[in-house]
Amino acid sequence: LTPQDLAGLTVLVTAGPTREPLDPVRYLTNRSSGKMGYALAEAASQRGAKVILVSGPTSLKAPPIEEVIQVETAIQMYQAVADRFSRANILVKAAAVADYRPDNICDQKIKKAAGEMNIELVANPDILAHMGSRKSDKQFLVGFAAETNDLDKNALSKLEKKNLDLLIANDVTQPGAGFDYDTNAVRIFSKTGTIKEIPVISKNIVAHKILDAVVEFRNC
Ligand code: PMT
Repeated sequence: LTPQDLAGLTVLVTAGPTREPLDPVRYLTNRSSGKMGYALAEAASQRGAKVILVSGPTSLKAPPIEEVIQVETAIQMYQAVADRFSRANILVKAAAVADYRPDNICDQKIKKAAGEMNIELVANPDILAHMGSRKSDKQFLVGFAAETNDLDKNALSKLEKKNLDLLIANDVTQPGAGFDYDTNAVRIFSKTGTIKEIPVISKNIVAHKILDAVVEFRNC
């Protein structure tokens, strides 16, 4: 039987990639499928939480939860999260948000021309860092770190810089882990430095292990 240890709480989950348009037919994006975030949303709902899912574009069917908000760009995701953050007891940011977007979105399809083609990029807002700077003592923030090198060092730096309570470190070079797989393997860092290691296993089980850690560290 699934424990109802999140009953009475609102969990805001982000999932999937963002899409940053260049012109009406092209965009920049990444390999996130949304599977990890959707598994977290579903697992939180099974454990009794009211779940709000803010999702970038995916081909997944939305889980049966109260509120699903579909967005495309990082700025739209920022707005959707910021508008709902005060209602959330727990924020879990599994989305792979684009750090940069094209500075200029052309109204018309960009035409092929001779010579080099350069795209000027500007930084997107860091949604998690903004929420980290706004959060009350009662709100619990879970961030992810998708890394290809220096996993622990980069993860701990994100935990501190973004004022998080838990950081889920994802070595996306490990076979069976990260983008698009049905499985994942993560290391969970708490603010006090405690580490839990989750070996390669289905994203549904990883989601429940992450929520076990949320329940444990929220009550510390
Ligand atoms: O979707 P799947 O195919 O199932 O893959 C799962 C996953 C690999 C996408 C997921 O497990 C994961 O690691 N998600 C985080 C991906 C990421 O963008 O990591 P990051 O290290 O670039 O970002 C760190 C944290 O800051 C993340 O929680 C991210 O949501 C957040 N962020 C990043 C940039 C930004 N502009 N705003 C943010 O909120």
